[in-house]
Amino acid sequence: MSDRLHTLSGYFHEYQKSVAQPEEFWARIADSFHWKKRWDKVLDWNFDEPNVNWFVKGKLNITENILERHLFTIGDRPAIIWEPNDPSEEGRTITYRELYHEVCKFSNALKAKGIQKGDKVIIYMPMVPEAAIAMLACARIGAVHSVVFAGFSSSALSDRIIDCGAKAVLTSDGNFRGNKKIAVKAVVDEALEKAPVDTVIVYQRTRQDVIMKEGRDHWWHDVIDGIADTNKAEEMDSEDMLFILYTSGSTGKPKGVVHTTGGYMVYTKYSFENVFQYSPGDVYWCTADIGWITGHSYIVYGPLLSGATSLMFEGVPTFPDAGRFWAVVEKYKVNTFYTAPTAIRALQAYGTDPIEPYDLSSLKVLGSVGEPINEEAWHWYHTHVGKSKCPIVDTWWQTETGGIMVSPLAGITPTKPAYATLPLPGVQLCIVDAEGKELKGNSVEGNLCVKFPWPSMIRTTYGDHDRCKQTYFSTYKGMYFTGDGVKRDHDGYYRILGRVDDVINVSGHRMGTAEVENAINEHPLVIESAVVGFPHEVKGQGIYAYVICDMKNRTEENLTNEIKDTVSKIIGPIAKPDKVQIVSGLPKTRSGKIMRRILRKVAEGSVENLGDTSTLLDPEVVEQIIAGRK
Ligand code: WT7
Repeated sequence: MSDRLHTLSGYFHEYQKSVAQPEEFWARIADSFHWKKRWDKVLDWNFDEPNVNWFVKGKLNITENILERHLFTIGDRPAIIWEPNDPSEEGRTITYRELYHEVCKFSNALKAKGIQKGDKVIIYMPMVPEAAIAMLACARIGAVHSVVFAGFSSSALSDRIIDCGAKAVLTSDGNFRGNKKIAVKAVVDEALEKAPVDTVIVYQRTRQDVIMKEGRDHWWHDVIDGIADTNKAEEMDSEDMLFILYTSGSTGKPKGVVHTTGGYMVYTKYSFENVFQYSPGDVYWCTADIGWITGHSYIVYGPLLSGATSLMFEGVPTFPDAGRFWAVVEKYKVNTFYTAPTAIRALQAYGTDPIEPYDLSSLKVLGSVGEPINEEAWHWYHTHVGKSKCPIVDTWWQTETGGIMVSPLAGITPTKPAYATLPLPGVQLCIVDAEGKELKGNSVEGNLCVKFPWPSMIRTTYGDHDRCKQTYFSTYKGMYFTGDGVKRDHDGYYRILGRVDDVINVSGHRMGTAEVENAINEHPLVIESAVVGFPHEVKGQGIYAYVICDMKNRTEENLTNEIKDTVSKIIGPIAKPDKVQIVSGLPKTRSGKIMRRILRKVAEGSVENLGDTSTLLDPEVVEQIIAGRK
């Protein structure tokens, strides 16, 4: 681990080098990996098309750097520790050697089913080790995985299958979540009616009844039965696609963020080791789901590239009770715990009683990700979970950035509540005003951009490169625009203020307002709708929907519930509006544009200060909306 930073002055020194000589800097980091062929050139780029290539013409397989690399050195070390939903069920430990064989077996099975390099494979699975094995098996043979969060609906799933042209779907019979049993395969069956694929492989988890379609559907245990447990990893180019991950933006349709092999590998390992200051033998636990980028980069790839022990948890924080996280920390002597502010706030509501019975003395580092952490939650986390001795790394990044961009280095960077603090080496941030003028110096506030490529950045949006260009590289010329507002304080520390576009962040999950509106509009009695975010005590932001309806003979309550169910069905329960207000009209400008600013103000309850309403077509609509506020 020679690329480890140990001191604050060391960090500043490395940071300077990474800006002055980025190619030398990243070549040095990349040299510690196994390449089948070294790159010809470190970086080739422009942000206009955009066209970004890291480690040009380098050849590698990311799984060799996870599996073969560790086989003879730490083969007996646990790679994955799995804790099931139900604490009375036995957990599992998978060593690096076992992981090697499991990945080889399953990748051989995929090949036997005709999956080849470049094919797209959808993974729609619960939090079981096989989900990680599935991802690595795809990477091993050069198939491109696209993990879809198993809480998404069948129609969200079929949209993604169609968009990426998937050949196969990997799934499970069912899924345990808290005291619920979810019929996962049935959701897949429904999705496949609209979006057929050749092959479905089903991991048996709940043993509930499922329908298996002859010729298409196979059990996981059958396809690996008697198959070879070794193979040779496919040779991939640095810029070959590793995975597609769908995320929401300001337009209605989720976009497939594309990450490639070489740069993603280098950056996720480097950032993992430095941010968390991981030491060999430590037990690291990230509570995210593998359906999100956090699960990709910091449950699977980053930790496993580092030879770390990564804990995977199938359940939820409140089952069987609100002490579950702490029970798991005690059980496995977890050293690093990485979760989302929404989970912290949810547990905070139960007070400290659920923490008391457990020994949390193994904890060394705490992490936060997904949304701004409010100061109160930060202090609660620091005092009651970390017992005032664990640094908190507030990590800012995005699906598109692939890895952590702004964060303290645990125990090295002095922290400040609610601040993500400083950029990682290689990350060249830039704050701009609305006109795109760079705001230099400290004590400034504006929009957050990045002006130089970093290895794990988005390469394209699948099937629509122009969308990538328009969304990220056109707002401010020559820069990647994050969509976040930010403040740089007098110390040069960064504080993320939240999205400045039409994206809301609900419990750390990104939701496009247009996406939710489209779903609401599917209800036959809905005429028009407008969705905004509002401050929510636990979720960070909640979803507030203003809807114009043809009431027919429904009651308002009936219709409201039907609308919520429609969204649940079309996107998934995470997108269900918290509040639905039936309105007779929406505040529009003379040119017909909805004035969301006003809707946001009403939703957050600050109706006294609506700002300039002079361009409104019909001011009376606003009065009615205020009167009917939920
Ligand atoms: C958006 C990205 C990659 C992490 C999981 C979410 C917000 C993320 C922080 C943080 C304040 C944060 C931003 C960002 N966000 N981390 N530490 N502090 N805001 O990934 O779904 O792609 O969402 O999450 O608004 O743009 P994502």
